[in-house]
Amino acid sequence: MSATLSQRERMYRAYQDFFDTGEKKRRWNPFSDIPWEKIKQDTVTEDDAVCLETFCGVELYVPDYTANGLNMTRAIFGAAWFEACWGYEESKHALAYRTYLIESGLRTEEQYADFERKIFSKVWKLPFNTWRQMTCYGALQESATYLIYRTQLEKAKERGNHLLEQIYFLISRDEAAHRGFYQKVLQYELEEDRDGALEDLAHVVFNFGMPGVGLIPEYDDRLKIDGVGISPQHFLQHAVFPLLRAVGTSRSELIKIHRRKQAEEAARAERDAGEPALAVS
Ligand SMILES: [Fe+2]
Ligand SMILES: [Fe+2]
Repeated sequence: MSATLSQRERMYRAYQDFFDTGEKKRRWNPFSDIPWEKIKQDTVTEDDAVCLETFCGVELYVPDYTANGLNMTRAIFGAAWFEACWGYEESKHALAYRTYLIESGLRTEEQYADFERKIFSKVWKLPFNTWRQMTCYGALQESATYLIYRTQLEKAKERGNHLLEQIYFLISRDEAAHRGFYQKVLQYELEEDRDGALEDLAHVVFNFGMPGVGLIPEYDDRLKIDGVGISPQHFLQHAVFPLLRAVGTSRSELIKIHRRKQAEEAARAERDAGEPALAVS
């Protein structure tokens, strides 16, 4: 990953803002800022357990996310330090979910340990190859995660599950800040190289998948439980389109880019197929 001096300075400032605002407004402690003594007042079901366990599973891949992220960004201070800070924040999400699952009695320690063992038996791999593509991915993924947790927050509030509501409030606020950081960096990338960044954004939008796919045990069955995932329509309306608007592009522009790329790839494949094979002697 290389960057010009102005890109480095912008990244540093973006990280400084993210860190400073986080320190002043968002810091929380999963053990002391949640009134765990009130946990028995929440009325929770097995569906809540499946949601919490699935979210916890996705958050548990922090070692893989940060190892890959830091390897990719290590030469750029703002980007690498963001990865470190982001990993710390995500790690608290897993701690809060883990504690809730066990303290509520939704899962025994043994059940939780078994789940964690299954999670760590798999390794998360980078879904895209470059930092700029991962920035596009981060903006969309954090947005989807925020929307999923926000729906859970509303549900917990309606049902009077105050402790769960508090947890989803604290975590979704972090996810919103993560989305904001990635969106800001994507805006910088577009100012630097609009065509290239839009090609990456189109590529990521058309190949997007949530991080739990292929990693969380029985993921497809879990998705049948209301609230575990997000519908494609909800994702488009509340994550993709707002991001496109915010960074100054549109659905039709991305479709155009995507079709052009597909045509170029098809032409290349045809050309390669038409070339004579190397003679083997
Ligand atoms: Fe998280
Ligand atoms: Fe996040």
